[in-house]
Amino acid sequence: MGDAKKAEKEVIVCRCEEITLDEIREWIDRGCDTFNELKRVLRVGMGPCQGRGCQDIILRELSRRLGVPIDQVEAGTVRPPVKPIKTGLLASE
Ligand code: FES
Repeated sequence: MGDAKKAEKEVIVCRCEEITLDEIREWIDRGCDTFNELKRVLRVGMGPCQGRGCQDIILRELSRRLGVPIDQVEAGTVRPPVKPIKTGLLASE
């Protein structure tokens, strides 16, 4: 295997959950064809950023691998990022 191919396998797509491009491709080939299905099996999009760092990349990979336009790939649910705030901020309002 060439160095470029090996490096591509080790590319981390979801930094929060440390999921590689290779793992994502493997599960797309196993039949996961939506972001939410990949989320269920790999936990992509479930880290502190809630998919802001990885969802677009994963949707692009789904589109490429499935051979469908990106606007036809079912996107996942986006939730606000988990970010602690001081209760005093809420109380001051
Ligand atoms: S990079 Fe995937 S959940 Fe944060």
